[in-house]
Amino acid sequence: FKKLTISDALSTKALGSNIRIQGWVRSVRSQKEHLFLHVNDGSSLQPLQVVASHDLNDRGLTFGSAIDVSGSLEKSPSGKQNVELHAKQIQVTGKCDPTEFPFKIKERHSLEYIRQFPHLRCRTNVFSALLRVRSEATSAIQSFFKDNGFIQIHTPVITSNDCEGAGELFQVEPASRDKQQDERDPHYFSVPTYLTVSGQLHLEVMAGAFPAVYTFGPTFRAENSQSRRHLAEFYMVEAEISFTESLEDVMTVMEHLFKASTEHVLTHCAEDVELFHKFVAPGHRGQVDLMLSRKFNVISYTEAIDILNRSSQIFTFPTKWGCDLQTEHEKYLVKHCGNIPVFVTDYPYDLKPFYARDNQDHPRHTAAAVDLLVPGVGELCGGSLREERLEILRSRIIQAGMEDAYEWYLQLRQFGSVPHGGFGMGFERYLQCILGVDNIKDVIPFARFSHSCLL
Ligand code: 4AD
Ligand code: MG
Repeated sequence: FKKLTISDALSTKALGSNIRIQGWVRSVRSQKEHLFLHVNDGSSLQPLQVVASHDLNDRGLTFGSAIDVSGSLEKSPSGKQNVELHAKQIQVTGKCDPTEFPFKIKERHSLEYIRQFPHLRCRTNVFSALLRVRSEATSAIQSFFKDNGFIQIHTPVITSNDCEGAGELFQVEPASRDKQQDERDPHYFSVPTYLTVSGQLHLEVMAGAFPAVYTFGPTFRAENSQSRRHLAEFYMVEAEISFTESLEDVMTVMEHLFKASTEHVLTHCAEDVELFHKFVAPGHRGQVDLMLSRKFNVISYTEAIDILNRSSQIFTFPTKWGCDLQTEHEKYLVKHCGNIPVFVTDYPYDLKPFYARDNQDHPRHTAAAVDLLVPGVGELCGGSLREERLEILRSRIIQAGMEDAYEWYLQLRQFGSVPHGGFGMGFERYLQCILGVDNIKDVIPFARFSHSCLL
């Protein structure tokens, strides 16, 4: 008996041979002649049907139990599936009491309900599909960068800088330390250190030696909000491109990354994506196709403010030039653009972090920064050209009182500085956008947010 995954067993390549599969029971149906089981192992959305004689039955064969089945893979007489496994032997590896198991057979539990069981939700069809899409999207993103000549950099998780300057840092210190050591030197690394909020500054180092670099890893922010699009730990895809003087170059990479990755996922995870577009966000496929088929819009921040001011919608937050765009504004702008993603460029200089390139315009002083806004989510990517001019950067850093910590950053502008720019894309927000998932907590294996770190 050759051991196969369910996905391989379903592919009909092994038709007629003796195989062995291992997985979890999705359903049990006892009929006069036979027992019918659906078994899944996470390798595919579709379960494999197992047909067994009643003498192979066992009281442990219940919904949720883990089983090991050997038998012959045959063509299925029913039209519902191509193949079925005619069991010769069934062993219950791990029992599961269906009365206590939080998921019920044949029931379609809401994402909200299964979220309560982070240790078990991977056993549901919908979360299993999500995890396959997430894995495939990760590969798609890696392939995109590889195909386009980007070098992957493993930027550190522990860092001494606050890239975004937003003060949303988690500090890092050992859980317990020698008391004397503490008095001599209060910090393990001798300086305060944090979990990274962005790998950008480290990528900028590398942009001083490579044409294009990227990183894709966890980032951390002590967000206070209990919103549907913020997590305390999320994955970010970040890219940095050297020798570029135009924000359009950065925007082009964002748009191509979005489109290429999404096409890849739609092709390689068709069934899993369809499950979302059918049951979680009915009709969302049309939205995704629209985003893929149209060129993304571009408007300036100043135009965006004009659009908001002209709208008849009443906003909670002000829409004056100089104010940051809130989620409600972002969503309105995307709608205004016909639900096609929109780049908003040239934000007020004072709204953007110290690294953003000064457009040196007047009286409305802006920075060469861009956000990509998408339907349902709002901000998906944030990027900018970086200030490569030593004196301008130095004076901004001095203004912020950060000259000691950023001496090395200034040196990058001293030794062979080049114009460069980049962006970051929130990976969970990307998944929300293509799958139509309302809450960010439902697209990450283990969600961390304020007052919640289960497992
Ligand atoms: O706009 P942000 O803060 O940009 C940066 O961090 C830049 N340093 C990136 C760069 O240029 N290399 O974050 C980038 C994206 C946001 O657009 C959003 O999609 C996502 O990261 N993001 C979050 N996703 C989930 N939970 C949070 N708390 C997030 N904060 C930002
Ligand atoms: Mg941002």
